[in-house]
This record gives sequence, C-alpha cells and structure tokens, in this order.
Amino acid sequence: MTRTDSYYETDKIISEYLLFHYGEAEHFRGPPESLSFPQRCGQLALRHPVSKGRALDLGCAVGGSSCELSAHFEETIGIDFSHGLIEAAKRMQEGESADVEIALEGDLTTSISLHRPNAARPTHLRYQQGDAMNLSNDLGTFDFVLMANLIDRLPDPARCLHSIASLINSDGILAITSPYTWLEEFTPRDKWLGGFQKEGSPVRSYQSLQKILQPEFEEIEALDMPFLIREHSRKNQYSIAQATLWRRR
Ligand SMILES: C[S@@+](CC[C@H](N)C(=O)[O-])C[C@H]1O[C@@H](n2cnc3c(N)ncnc32)[C@H](O)[C@@H]1O
Repeated sequence: MTRTDSYYETDKIISEYLLFHYGEAEHFRGPPESLSFPQRCGQLALRHPVSKGRALDLGCAVGGSSCELSAHFEETIGIDFSHGLIEAAKRMQEGESADVEIALEGDLTTSISLHRPNAARPTHLRYQQGDAMNLSNDLGTFDFVLMANLIDRLPDPARCLHSIASLINSDGILAITSPYTWLEEFTPRDKWLGGFQKEGSPVRSYQSLQKILQPEFEEIEALDMPFLIREHSRKNQYSIAQATLWRRR
C-alpha cells in the first residue's frame, strides 16, 4: 500500500479537510487572501470565458471546490481516491452539517458545526470514488477540469496529465493548482515534475507542466493561490500554490 492509499482515509484527515473546505474565516488566523482556498479554486473557472456545461473536480476531497463549481456548471463531478473523503463529501451534499473537533491548544479542542455553502447546487453535483491514474472510460468530456493540489500526491503525475486532454472539450480549460511539495511517500523521485537537478540544471515543476501540456493546450495564465491549514488556534500553516490555467486546443 502506498501512503496515498491509507493516508487520506483516517478520521483525523477527514475532519481536517472538512474544516479546510467548509470552515469560516473565524476558524483561521492569517492573511484574508489565504482563506476559502477550495472556493477560490472553483472560481478559477470564472476567470476566462468557457462553456458552463460539465466540470470535473479531480482529487475533490470533501467537495468544497465541487460545491463552488456546481453553482456555475450544469453538471459537476467530484472524484477522489479516498472512500472516506467521498462519503464525507456526499453527506455535505445531502445537507447534513458536519460537527468536527478543532484544536485550541495542547489537549484542548472545541466542537464546531460546518455547513454546505448556500451557493452550492446539490442536484447539479455528483461524487464518485475513483483513481486519477486510471479514470473510468464512461466519464464523458468536460468544459472545465480542476486538479487542486493533486499532482504532487500522484504516483506518476506526468502520465495523469498526458491522459487528461482526452477528457477536455476543445476550448475547455484545465486548472492545476499545486504548491509542488514533492514527497517520496506519494511520488517516486524519478516521477517528480521538478525540484531536482538534471544534467547540472535545476528542473522546476512549472517548466515541466509547460513541456507536458503545451502540445495539447495553450497556456492562459499563472497566478499565486495562498492557502491556510489550521493546526491550532494560534498556528496556521501558510502555503502558496501556483495555479496554472490551460486552454484545450
Ligand atoms: C492535498 S489533497 C487536495 C484536496 C483538494 N483538491 C484541495 O485542494 O483541498 C489531495 C487529494 O487528492 C486525492 N488523491 C490522491 N491520489 C489520488 C488519485 N490517484 N486519484 C484521485 N484522487 C487522489 C486525495 O485523496 C486528496 O483528497
């Protein structure tokens, strides 16, 4: 079993993702522009003209970005490898609130209730468990595909990216966000897209994305997307993902 198989199935991770995706500003302490990352990922679909037919949120976790996409697209499909995360996403879709314990300091925690955002359209949303490395043939095609903080959790991101073009309609948009946190637990070193020297030169993930995607996509935009992960009431981990947007030729 790789780390990905079990890592995203624990109650602790599911609670952390529920907080990350459905938490309110009051649950985090950090720069305002780093809040609501999953919603901002869904809103990447609004930055450039694109048909609002079908959207795919690959590596959707508990569905915060899928909810946002469902507000704008006729149909949104959220896919994640983790059964536990998909079950939690479906419970939120059904309108259940989630009660999670969040850390205050030391052993102290407090219980908070998280709710599905009002903008979400649950009848336009479908979740399924699946593997980004081996997607089912009957998914159909999409106008917008989001891969939010997924690529550096895959065993072979280049292979996944090579296969994604066939899922995207001509003029459709692929949005990738990633902090490029390459770890051998998830991605064997020889499959990293960047963060190493090759023949004496540094290889950066952004350049590799350009090389992999340019035959099938035109690059539209690259932007920084900060986000916060709460550890306890006075400690929030601040990261900056890079978002890159690509239009299918
Ligand atoms: C770092 S989390 C990002 C989750 C969410 N997109 C976000 O931005 O908060 C990576 C997600 O990818 C999922 N994942 C990892 N490997 C996957 C695979 N092969 N296929 C589909 N999902 C996968 C994990 O279960 C987890 O939900």
